Amino acid sequence: MAIDVVALRSRFPSLAHGFAFFDGPGGTQTPAPVAEAIARTMTGPLSNRGTVSVSERNAERTVAEFRAAYADLLGVPASGVVHGRSATQLTYDFSRHLAKTWRAGDEIVLSRLDHDANVRPWIQAAQRAGVAVRWIEIDPATAGLDLDSYERALSPRTRLVAVTAASNVLGSLPPVRLIADRAHEVGALVHVDGVHYAAHRLVDVPALGADLFVCSPYKFLGPHCGVLAGSPDLLGTLAPDKLVPSADTVPERFEFGTLPYEVLAGATAAVDFLAAMDPDGEEGHDGADAAGPAGLRESAGQGVPGVSRRERLRRSLRSLHAHETALRARTEDGLRALGDAVTVHSKAPERTPTLLMTLEGRDAREAQAHLAARGVVAPAGSFYAHEVFAALKLPDPSLRVGLAPYNDAEDVDRLLDGLSSFLRTAV
Ligand SMILES: Cc1ncc(COP(=O)(O)O)c(C=O)c1O
Repeated sequence: MAIDVVALRSRFPSLAHGFAFFDGPGGTQTPAPVAEAIARTMTGPLSNRGTVSVSERNAERTVAEFRAAYADLLGVPASGVVHGRSATQLTYDFSRHLAKTWRAGDEIVLSRLDHDANVRPWIQAAQRAGVAVRWIEIDPATAGLDLDSYERALSPRTRLVAVTAASNVLGSLPPVRLIADRAHEVGALVHVDGVHYAAHRLVDVPALGADLFVCSPYKFLGPHCGVLAGSPDLLGTLAPDKLVPSADTVPERFEFGTLPYEVLAGATAAVDFLAAMDPDGEEGHDGADAAGPAGLRESAGQGVPGVSRRERLRRSLRSLHAHETALRARTEDGLRALGDAVTVHSKAPERTPTLLMTLEGRDAREAQAHLAARGVVAPAGSFYAHEVFAALKLPDPSLRVGLAPYNDAEDVDRLLDGLSSFLRTAV
């Protein structure tokens, strides 16, 4: 069933300010239920985790609900869900944990399509461990990964392949499963950056072939934090530095210090909000297929009785895909109508609704300012896609337009009008 965009938009208090937001790939607007869950957690009785008082049990429940929600969202067991301050922090942490198992002469493989958060932590860990870094290059013709270069980069010494599931600037969706299968054939682990991907696709970590997968709830309507998913068996083999009295269980051993319970509650509310985006829950069933991969903890969230949260997420993300695809077509048609003055660099056949563009002879920062003066938020920059910009020699800054669930046709028309009037202004 189609997403009711009018009803959806009414749940976002910030939209009442009249802006058309195209900066979702940098961070989405927040729906009221997410903010309310944060406030409710902070204003209710709350102590450190425990089982004795109501306030302790509230903290305990908040953590359990968070793990259950991200188990449903990502298709992993709840005990494979790790909270972190950000995807960057989690990747830095896990680069250090994994590097403890590397030996001098080992190799890792990184991709030029990645955000620097899935590049620099690994390079720095590799340098410390005496490990060589190999690269999967970008094919400029497709704006996707060059799989021949991947074959050349792999070797029996490869210990890790780190790759994005979706580029945060071009939107390109590399064939992660294929990349993961080849990595596993040579005995390497696969770390997938799903920060941009998780905002647009239903994630199934085992189906992607990822050993470790990171995402950031603030890219899909939640609060600012990061989540890592991995199999509990793999997590159990890793030994982070830790305090003596802190829990050594998985996943707690990877979470340092007291958890931000209110943030976890907001992150859970974001998953429930996503799951409720498609109102078509009634016709569902709750069979094994709907429940998702083995070990998945069933929904703790509200919703239609008998339909698992995983299944509701599946439907919502399918509807979201249809909504975003229609708006992307409207945007691309409108950009084409602006003529040669606009070059869109996003061109992979499989991609998210994120468009990176340059405007002939014009500074993207001026375009950003011109749009902002008209209430249209579309940022200019290189968005930490350091390797992508260098490999493709993209102009920095470029303008990035990303669609989010709350965007509508009127937003797109405002963007196109704004760009059109910018192009008509004197240079
Ligand atoms: C693809 C991608 N990876 C990683 C990150 C870093 O995420 P975080 O801010 O949670 O560290 C971002 C942030 O923009 C991103 O877009």
